[in-house]
Amino acid sequence: MLDIIDIKILDFRDLIESNSNTNLDANFSLHLAYSMKKILVTGGSGYIGSHTVVELLDAGHDVVILDNLSNSGVGVVQRIETISERSVKFIQGDIQDEALLDELFKEHSFDSVIHFAGLKSVAESVAEPERYYQNNVVGSETLFNCMQQNSCNELVFSSSATVYGEPESVPISEGAKLSATNPYGDSKLAVENVLKELNSSNPEWKISILRYFNPVAAHASGMIGEDPNGIPNNLLPYIAQVAVGKLDRLAVFGDDYPTPDGTGIRDYVHVVDLARAHIAALSCIEEGQSPKVYNIGTGQGYSVLEVVQAFEKAAQCKIPYVLEPRRPGDIASCYADASLAMKELGWSAAYGLAQMMEDHWRWQQLNPNGYQ
Ligand code: NAD
Ligand code: UD1
Repeated sequence: MLDIIDIKILDFRDLIESNSNTNLDANFSLHLAYSMKKILVTGGSGYIGSHTVVELLDAGHDVVILDNLSNSGVGVVQRIETISERSVKFIQGDIQDEALLDELFKEHSFDSVIHFAGLKSVAESVAEPERYYQNNVVGSETLFNCMQQNSCNELVFSSSATVYGEPESVPISEGAKLSATNPYGDSKLAVENVLKELNSSNPEWKISILRYFNPVAAHASGMIGEDPNGIPNNLLPYIAQVAVGKLDRLAVFGDDYPTPDGTGIRDYVHVVDLARAHIAALSCIEEGQSPKVYNIGTGQGYSVLEVVQAFEKAAQCKIPYVLEPRRPGDIASCYADASLAMKELGWSAAYGLAQMMEDHWRWQQLNPNGYQ
Protein backbone atom coordinates (compact mmCIF):
# COMPACT_ATOMS: atom_id res chain seq x y z
CA MET A 1 0.00 0.00 0.00
CA LEU A 2 2.66 2.50 1.06
CA ASP A 3 4.87 1.55 -1.89
CA ILE A 4 2.13 2.31 -4.37
CA ILE A 5 1.44 5.72 -2.88
CA ASP A 6 5.17 6.50 -2.89
CA ILE A 7 5.43 5.76 -6.57
CA LYS A 8 2.48 8.00 -7.36
CA ILE A 9 3.95 10.85 -5.37
CA LEU A 10 7.34 10.46 -7.00
CA ASP A 11 5.70 10.61 -10.43
CA PHE A 12 3.90 13.73 -9.30
CA ARG A 13 7.28 15.18 -8.31
CA ASP A 14 8.63 14.63 -11.78
CA LEU A 15 5.72 16.61 -13.12
CA ILE A 16 6.33 19.37 -10.61
CA GLU A 17 10.02 19.52 -11.35
CA SER A 18 9.19 20.38 -14.93
CA ASN A 19 6.98 23.23 -13.69
CA SER A 20 9.06 26.02 -12.17
CA ASN A 21 6.03 27.72 -10.55
CA THR A 22 5.29 24.83 -8.21
CA ASN A 23 6.65 24.55 -4.69
CA LEU A 24 8.96 21.52 -4.46
CA ASP A 25 9.18 21.72 -0.65
CA ALA A 26 5.44 21.20 -0.33
CA ASN A 27 5.75 18.16 -2.51
CA PHE A 28 8.58 16.78 -0.39
CA SER A 29 6.37 17.20 2.69
CA LEU A 30 3.61 15.32 0.92
CA HIS A 31 6.02 12.55 0.03
CA LEU A 32 7.23 12.35 3.63
CA ALA A 33 3.69 12.23 4.94
CA TYR A 34 2.87 9.27 2.73
CA SER A 35 6.06 7.36 3.55
CA MET A 36 5.55 7.87 7.29
CA LYS A 37 5.21 4.57 9.12
CA LYS A 38 3.54 3.45 12.30
CA ILE A 39 6.28 1.67 14.21
CA LEU A 40 6.31 -0.45 17.35
CA VAL A 41 9.60 0.02 19.17
CA THR A 42 10.18 -2.68 21.77
CA GLY A 43 12.69 -1.65 24.43
CA GLY A 44 12.20 1.93 23.26
CA SER A 45 12.89 3.50 26.65
CA GLY A 46 16.32 1.86 26.85
CA TYR A 47 19.64 3.36 25.80
CA ILE A 48 19.67 2.64 22.05
CA GLY A 49 15.88 2.51 21.76
CA SER A 50 15.38 6.04 23.16
CA HIS A 51 17.89 7.54 20.72
CA THR A 52 16.26 5.67 17.86
CA VAL A 53 12.79 6.88 18.83
CA VAL A 54 14.08 10.48 18.66
CA GLU A 55 15.43 9.87 15.14
CA LEU A 56 12.21 8.13 14.06
CA LEU A 57 10.10 11.05 15.29
CA ASP A 58 12.42 13.50 13.55
CA ALA A 59 11.99 11.51 10.34
CA GLY A 60 8.22 11.90 10.65
CA HIS A 61 7.32 8.38 11.77
CA ASP A 62 4.66 7.57 14.35
CA VAL A 63 5.97 5.56 17.31
CA VAL A 64 4.56 3.36 20.05
CA ILE A 65 7.06 2.21 22.70
CA LEU A 66 6.60 -1.11 24.47
CA ASP A 67 8.97 -1.61 27.41
CA ASN A 68 8.67 -3.52 30.68
CA LEU A 69 11.03 -1.02 32.37
CA SER A 70 13.27 -3.84 33.62
CA ASN A 71 16.28 -1.72 32.64
CA SER A 72 14.91 1.78 32.10
CA GLY A 73 12.58 4.35 33.63
CA VAL A 74 9.45 5.94 32.27
CA GLY A 75 11.04 9.40 32.75
CA VAL A 76 12.97 8.93 29.53
CA VAL A 77 9.74 9.22 27.54
CA GLN A 78 9.19 12.82 28.67
CA ARG A 79 12.75 13.64 27.67
CA ILE A 80 12.24 12.10 24.23
CA GLU A 81 9.11 14.23 23.86
CA THR A 82 10.97 17.38 24.92
CA ILE A 83 13.77 16.77 22.42
CA SER A 84 11.41 15.93 19.56
CA GLU A 85 8.58 18.30 20.42
CA ARG A 86 6.26 15.43 19.59
CA SER A 87 4.27 13.04 21.73
CA VAL A 88 4.98 9.33 22.00
CA LYS A 89 2.69 6.59 23.18
CA PHE A 90 4.32 4.49 25.88
CA ILE A 91 3.01 1.10 26.98
CA GLN A 92 4.54 -0.60 30.00
CA GLY A 93 4.47 -4.28 29.16
CA ASP A 94 6.44 -7.36 28.26
CA ILE A 95 7.17 -8.85 24.84
CA GLN A 96 6.29 -12.22 26.39
CA ASP A 97 2.70 -11.05 26.99
CA GLU A 98 0.92 -12.46 23.94
CA ALA A 99 -2.48 -10.98 24.77
CA LEU A 100 -1.07 -7.49 25.23
CA LEU A 101 0.88 -7.72 21.98
CA ASP A 102 -2.17 -8.90 20.07
CA GLU A 103 -4.22 -6.03 21.46
CA LEU A 104 -1.52 -3.53 20.45
CA PHE A 105 -1.20 -4.86 16.90
CA LYS A 106 -4.99 -4.82 16.46
CA GLU A 107 -5.27 -1.28 17.81
CA HIS A 108 -2.39 0.27 15.88
CA SER A 109 -1.95 -1.78 12.66
CA PHE A 110 1.82 -1.28 12.79
CA ASP A 111 3.76 -1.13 9.50
CA SER A 112 7.02 -2.16 11.18
CA VAL A 113 8.66 -3.26 14.40
CA ILE A 114 12.10 -2.28 15.67
CA HIS A 115 12.97 -4.86 18.29
CA PHE A 116 15.42 -3.70 20.97
CA ALA A 117 13.83 -5.33 24.03
CA GLY A 118 16.24 -7.73 25.66
CA LEU A 119 18.61 -8.32 28.52
CA LYS A 120 22.21 -7.45 27.63
CA SER A 121 24.65 -8.18 30.45
CA VAL A 122 27.17 -10.90 29.64
CA ALA A 123 27.99 -11.55 33.32
CA GLU A 124 24.32 -11.75 34.29
CA SER A 125 23.65 -14.14 31.42
CA VAL A 126 26.33 -16.50 32.72
CA ALA A 127 24.69 -16.45 36.17
CA GLU A 128 21.11 -16.73 34.86
CA PRO A 129 21.18 -18.42 31.44
CA GLU A 130 17.54 -19.61 31.58
CA ARG A 131 16.29 -16.08 32.27
CA TYR A 132 18.23 -14.82 29.25
CA TYR A 133 16.85 -17.59 27.02
CA GLN A 134 13.28 -16.98 28.19
CA ASN A 135 13.40 -13.20 27.89
CA ASN A 136 15.50 -12.79 24.75
CA VAL A 137 14.64 -15.88 22.69
CA VAL A 138 11.17 -16.95 23.83
CA GLY A 139 10.13 -13.29 24.12
CA SER A 140 11.29 -12.58 20.56
CA GLU A 141 9.47 -15.66 19.24
CA THR A 142 6.27 -14.48 20.92
CA LEU A 143 6.67 -11.10 19.26
CA PHE A 144 7.35 -12.58 15.80
CA ASN A 145 4.33 -14.94 16.06
CA CYS A 146 2.13 -12.02 16.96
CA MET A 147 3.49 -9.97 14.06
CA GLN A 148 2.76 -12.85 11.69
CA GLN A 149 -0.78 -13.30 13.00
CA ASN A 150 -1.43 -9.59 12.50
CA SER A 151 0.15 -9.38 9.03
CA CYS A 152 3.00 -7.13 10.12
CA ASN A 153 6.12 -8.52 8.48
CA GLU A 154 8.66 -5.71 8.57
CA LEU A 155 11.30 -6.00 11.26
CA VAL A 156 14.63 -4.52 12.30
CA PHE A 157 16.37 -6.61 14.97
CA SER A 158 19.17 -5.59 17.36
CA SER A 159 21.93 -8.12 17.17
CA SER A 160 25.51 -7.72 18.35
CA ALA A 161 29.11 -8.18 17.29
CA THR A 162 29.19 -10.69 20.12
CA VAL A 163 27.89 -13.26 17.55
CA TYR A 164 31.40 -13.29 16.01
CA GLY A 165 32.86 -14.75 19.24
CA GLU A 166 36.65 -14.74 18.98
CA PRO A 167 37.13 -13.42 15.41
CA GLU A 168 39.69 -15.13 13.18
CA SER A 169 40.70 -11.78 11.69
CA VAL A 170 39.79 -8.09 11.74
CA PRO A 171 38.05 -6.13 10.32
CA ILE A 172 35.11 -8.49 10.67
CA SER A 173 32.72 -8.83 7.75
CA GLU A 174 29.17 -10.19 7.94
CA GLY A 175 30.26 -13.50 6.41
CA ALA A 176 32.72 -14.26 9.24
CA LYS A 177 32.32 -17.41 11.30
CA LEU A 178 29.67 -17.11 14.02
CA SER A 179 30.02 -18.46 17.54
CA ALA A 180 28.72 -17.61 20.97
CA THR A 181 30.93 -17.55 24.02
CA ASN A 182 28.23 -16.90 26.63
CA PRO A 183 24.43 -17.25 27.06
CA TYR A 184 23.84 -13.62 25.98
CA GLY A 185 25.65 -14.33 22.70
CA ASP A 186 23.73 -17.61 22.41
CA SER A 187 20.46 -15.70 22.66
CA LYS A 188 21.43 -13.29 19.85
CA LEU A 189 22.51 -16.15 17.59
CA ALA A 190 19.33 -18.08 18.39
CA VAL A 191 17.11 -15.13 17.42
CA GLU A 192 19.09 -14.58 14.20
CA ASN A 193 18.45 -18.25 13.37
CA VAL A 194 14.73 -17.96 14.16
CA LEU A 195 14.55 -15.01 11.77
CA LYS A 196 16.31 -16.93 9.00
CA GLU A 197 13.83 -19.80 9.41
CA LEU A 198 10.86 -17.42 9.50
CA ASN A 199 11.96 -15.80 6.29
CA SER A 200 12.55 -19.04 4.45
CA SER A 201 9.10 -20.33 5.46
CA ASN A 202 7.43 -17.05 4.49
CA PRO A 203 9.27 -14.86 1.96
CA GLU A 204 6.91 -11.96 2.65
CA TRP A 205 8.91 -11.14 5.77
CA LYS A 206 11.20 -8.12 5.37
CA ILE A 207 13.93 -8.43 7.97
CA SER A 208 17.03 -6.45 8.70
CA ILE A 209 19.46 -7.71 11.33
CA LEU A 210 21.86 -5.06 12.64
CA ARG A 211 24.97 -6.27 14.43
CA TYR A 212 26.10 -3.39 16.63
CA PHE A 213 29.72 -3.01 17.62
CA ASN A 214 30.31 -0.88 20.78
CA PRO A 215 27.61 1.79 21.20
CA VAL A 216 28.72 4.85 23.21
CA ALA A 217 27.94 8.56 23.70
CA ALA A 218 24.60 10.27 23.97
CA HIS A 219 22.21 12.69 22.28
CA ALA A 220 23.75 16.15 21.73
CA SER A 221 21.15 17.72 24.05
CA GLY A 222 22.59 15.76 26.99
CA MET A 223 19.02 14.82 27.91
CA ILE A 224 19.15 11.10 27.10
CA GLY A 225 22.02 8.65 27.43
CA GLU A 226 23.14 5.38 28.94
CA ASP A 227 22.14 4.85 32.58
CA PRO A 228 23.74 1.61 33.77
CA ASN A 229 22.50 -0.14 36.90
CA GLY A 230 25.12 -0.18 39.65
CA ILE A 231 28.81 -0.27 38.79
CA PRO A 232 29.20 -0.18 34.99
CA ASN A 233 30.68 -3.17 33.16
CA ASN A 234 31.44 -1.33 29.95
CA LEU A 235 34.39 0.96 29.37
CA LEU A 236 32.80 4.32 28.56
CA PRO A 237 30.25 4.45 31.37
CA TYR A 238 33.02 3.41 33.77
CA ILE A 239 35.42 6.14 32.59
CA ALA A 240 32.63 8.74 32.74
CA GLN A 241 31.82 7.82 36.35
CA VAL A 242 35.51 8.15 37.26
CA ALA A 243 35.56 11.58 35.62
CA VAL A 244 32.52 12.75 37.56
CA GLY A 245 34.01 11.46 40.85
CA LYS A 246 31.63 8.55 41.47
CA LEU A 247 34.39 5.95 41.03
CA ASP A 248 38.03 6.25 42.09
CA ARG A 249 39.92 4.83 39.14
CA LEU A 250 39.59 2.72 36.04
CA ALA A 251 40.94 -0.84 35.96
CA VAL A 252 42.42 -1.46 32.50
CA PHE A 253 41.80 -5.15 31.84
CA GLY A 254 45.01 -6.44 30.29
CA ASP A 255 48.02 -4.70 28.73
CA ASP A 256 49.49 -7.83 27.16
CA TYR A 257 47.23 -8.26 24.14
CA PRO A 258 48.87 -8.44 20.71
CA THR A 259 47.87 -4.83 19.96
CA PRO A 260 50.16 -1.76 19.57
CA ASP A 261 49.82 -0.64 23.22
CA GLY A 262 48.82 -4.04 24.63
CA THR A 263 45.24 -3.04 25.55
CA GLY A 264 42.04 -4.28 23.89
CA ILE A 265 40.82 -2.69 20.67
CA ARG A 266 37.12 -2.06 19.94
CA ASP A 267 34.96 -0.28 17.38
CA TYR A 268 33.11 2.43 19.31
CA VAL A 269 30.11 3.84 17.48
CA HIS A 270 28.07 6.94 18.42
CA VAL A 271 24.58 5.95 19.55
CA VAL A 272 23.03 8.64 17.32
CA ASP A 273 24.82 7.16 14.29
CA LEU A 274 23.57 3.77 15.42
CA ALA A 275 20.01 5.10 15.76
CA ARG A 276 20.20 6.50 12.22
CA ALA A 277 21.26 3.10 10.91
CA HIS A 278 17.77 1.89 11.89
CA ILE A 279 16.13 4.62 9.81
CA ALA A 280 18.34 3.65 6.87
CA ALA A 281 17.54 -0.04 7.36
CA LEU A 282 13.82 0.68 7.51
CA SER A 283 13.80 2.72 4.34
CA CYS A 284 15.81 0.13 2.40
CA ILE A 285 13.82 -2.79 3.75
CA GLU A 286 11.10 -1.94 1.22
CA GLU A 287 13.38 -2.57 -1.72
CA GLY A 288 15.85 -5.11 -0.37
CA GLN A 289 15.77 -8.83 0.13
CA SER A 290 15.66 -10.18 3.61
CA PRO A 291 16.86 -11.18 6.07
CA LYS A 292 19.77 -8.84 5.47
CA VAL A 293 22.55 -8.65 8.00
CA TYR A 294 24.64 -5.51 8.51
CA ASN A 295 27.59 -4.64 10.72
CA ILE A 296 27.00 -1.27 12.36
CA GLY A 297 30.33 0.17 13.42
CA THR A 298 32.75 2.85 12.27
CA GLY A 299 35.30 0.40 10.89
CA GLN A 300 37.94 2.01 13.10
CA GLY A 301 39.31 0.35 16.22
CA TYR A 302 40.66 2.18 19.28
CA SER A 303 42.54 0.74 22.25
CA VAL A 304 41.47 1.23 25.87
CA LEU A 305 44.34 3.69 26.42
CA GLU A 306 43.43 5.67 23.30
CA VAL A 307 39.87 5.97 24.60
CA VAL A 308 41.12 7.12 28.00
CA GLN A 309 43.24 9.80 26.32
CA ALA A 310 40.37 10.97 24.10
CA PHE A 311 38.06 11.18 27.11
CA GLU A 312 40.64 13.14 29.12
CA LYS A 313 40.85 15.64 26.28
CA ALA A 314 37.06 16.02 26.04
CA ALA A 315 36.54 16.31 29.80
CA GLN A 316 39.72 18.29 30.48
CA CYS A 317 40.64 16.05 33.40
CA LYS A 318 42.90 13.11 34.26
CA ILE A 319 41.40 9.61 34.44
CA PRO A 320 43.45 7.66 37.01
CA TYR A 321 43.85 4.04 36.00
CA VAL A 322 45.58 0.84 37.11
CA LEU A 323 46.65 -2.04 34.91
CA GLU A 324 44.95 -5.30 35.86
CA PRO A 325 44.87 -8.82 34.39
CA ARG A 326 42.70 -9.58 31.37
CA ARG A 327 38.93 -9.89 31.95
CA PRO A 328 37.85 -13.49 31.33
CA GLY A 329 36.07 -13.85 28.00
CA ASP A 330 37.57 -10.66 26.48
CA ILE A 331 39.16 -10.67 23.04
CA ALA A 332 42.13 -8.65 21.82
CA SER A 333 40.64 -6.82 18.87
CA CYS A 334 37.18 -6.39 17.38
CA TYR A 335 36.22 -3.89 14.70
CA ALA A 336 33.85 -3.91 11.79
CA ASP A 337 34.08 -4.05 8.08
CA ALA A 338 31.09 -1.73 7.73
CA SER A 339 31.23 -1.43 3.95
CA LEU A 340 28.04 -3.43 3.32
CA ALA A 341 25.92 -0.97 5.33
CA MET A 342 27.44 1.85 3.27
CA LYS A 343 26.87 0.07 -0.03
CA GLU A 344 23.32 -1.17 0.56
CA LEU A 345 21.87 1.19 3.18
CA GLY A 346 23.85 4.30 2.31
CA TRP A 347 24.76 4.43 6.01
CA SER A 348 28.11 5.22 7.53
CA ALA A 349 29.07 6.68 10.87
CA ALA A 350 29.32 10.47 10.88
CA TYR A 351 30.84 10.96 14.33
CA GLY A 352 34.45 10.26 15.32
CA LEU A 353 35.96 9.38 18.69
CA ALA A 354 36.40 13.00 19.88
CA GLN A 355 32.70 13.79 19.32
CA MET A 356 31.68 10.53 21.02
CA MET A 357 33.70 11.47 24.10
CA GLU A 358 32.32 15.03 24.22
CA ASP A 359 28.72 13.85 23.97
CA HIS A 360 29.21 11.08 26.51
CA TRP A 361 30.79 13.56 28.91
CA ARG A 362 27.99 16.12 28.47
CA TRP A 363 25.38 13.47 29.34
CA GLN A 364 27.36 12.33 32.41
CA GLN A 365 27.95 15.88 33.65
CA LEU A 366 24.34 16.94 33.25
CA ASN A 367 23.04 13.67 34.74
CA PRO A 368 25.61 12.44 37.29
CA ASN A 369 23.01 10.02 38.69
CA GLY A 370 21.45 9.06 35.37
CA TYR A 371 17.68 9.56 35.14
CA GLN A 372 17.19 9.79 38.92
P1 NAD B 1 18.84 -1.33 27.39
O1 NAD B 1 18.83 -2.31 28.50
O2 NAD B 1 19.17 0.08 27.71
O3 NAD B 1 17.44 -1.36 26.62
C1 NAD B 1 16.68 -2.53 26.49
C2 NAD B 1 15.26 -2.20 26.93
O4 NAD B 1 14.46 -3.38 26.79
C3 NAD B 1 15.18 -1.77 28.40
O5 NAD B 1 14.49 -0.54 28.48
C4 NAD B 1 14.39 -2.89 29.09
O6 NAD B 1 13.59 -2.40 30.11
C5 NAD B 1 13.60 -3.46 27.92
N1 NAD B 1 13.25 -4.89 28.05
C6 NAD B 1 14.05 -5.93 28.36
N2 NAD B 1 13.35 -7.07 28.32
C7 NAD B 1 12.08 -6.75 27.96
C8 NAD B 1 10.89 -7.50 27.75
N3 NAD B 1 10.86 -8.81 27.94
N4 NAD B 1 9.78 -6.85 27.37
C9 NAD B 1 9.79 -5.50 27.21
N5 NAD B 1 10.87 -4.74 27.40
C10 NAD B 1 12.00 -5.36 27.77
O7 NAD B 1 19.82 -1.91 26.29
P2 NAD B 1 20.39 -1.21 24.98
O8 NAD B 1 21.84 -0.97 25.19
O9 NAD B 1 19.53 -0.09 24.57
O10 NAD B 1 20.27 -2.43 23.97
C11 NAD B 1 19.17 -2.57 23.11
C12 NAD B 1 19.34 -3.85 22.31
O11 NAD B 1 20.57 -3.80 21.60
C13 NAD B 1 19.39 -5.11 23.16
O12 NAD B 1 18.71 -6.14 22.49
C14 NAD B 1 20.87 -5.42 23.24
O13 NAD B 1 21.12 -6.78 23.42
C15 NAD B 1 21.34 -4.95 21.89
N6 NAD B 1 22.77 -4.58 21.88
C16 NAD B 1 23.23 -3.67 22.79
C17 NAD B 1 24.58 -3.36 22.81
C18 NAD B 1 25.13 -2.38 23.80
O14 NAD B 1 26.34 -2.37 24.04
N7 NAD B 1 24.34 -1.52 24.41
C19 NAD B 1 25.47 -3.95 21.89
C20 NAD B 1 24.95 -4.85 20.96
C21 NAD B 1 23.58 -5.16 20.98
C1 UD1 C 1 31.12 -6.17 26.17
C2 UD1 C 1 30.50 -7.54 26.17
C3 UD1 C 1 29.88 -7.80 24.80
C4 UD1 C 1 28.89 -6.70 24.44
C5 UD1 C 1 29.63 -5.35 24.50
C6 UD1 C 1 28.77 -4.18 24.20
C7 UD1 C 1 31.84 -8.84 27.77
C8 UD1 C 1 32.81 -9.96 27.93
N1 UD1 C 1 31.53 -8.52 26.50
O1 UD1 C 1 32.09 -6.18 25.18
O2 UD1 C 1 29.23 -9.05 24.77
O3 UD1 C 1 28.38 -6.91 23.14
O4 UD1 C 1 30.17 -5.19 25.83
O5 UD1 C 1 27.86 -3.97 25.22
O6 UD1 C 1 31.32 -8.29 28.72
N2 UD1 C 1 37.62 -2.50 29.74
C9 UD1 C 1 38.53 -2.14 30.72
N3 UD1 C 1 38.03 -1.76 31.92
C10 UD1 C 1 36.70 -1.71 32.21
C11 UD1 C 1 35.79 -2.08 31.19
C12 UD1 C 1 36.28 -2.46 29.99
O7 UD1 C 1 39.72 -2.16 30.50
O8 UD1 C 1 36.33 -1.37 33.35
C13 UD1 C 1 38.13 -2.88 28.40
C14 UD1 C 1 37.75 -4.28 27.98
O9 UD1 C 1 38.70 -5.21 28.41
C15 UD1 C 1 37.70 -4.11 26.45
C16 UD1 C 1 37.25 -2.66 26.25
O10 UD1 C 1 37.55 -2.00 27.46
O11 UD1 C 1 38.98 -4.25 25.90
C17 UD1 C 1 35.77 -2.52 25.95
O12 UD1 C 1 35.04 -3.21 26.98
P1 UD1 C 1 33.43 -3.16 27.05
O13 UD1 C 1 32.99 -1.76 27.00
O14 UD1 C 1 33.04 -3.96 28.24
O15 UD1 C 1 32.97 -3.85 25.71
P2 UD1 C 1 33.35 -5.29 25.10
O16 UD1 C 1 34.40 -5.95 25.89
O17 UD1 C 1 33.62 -5.09 23.67
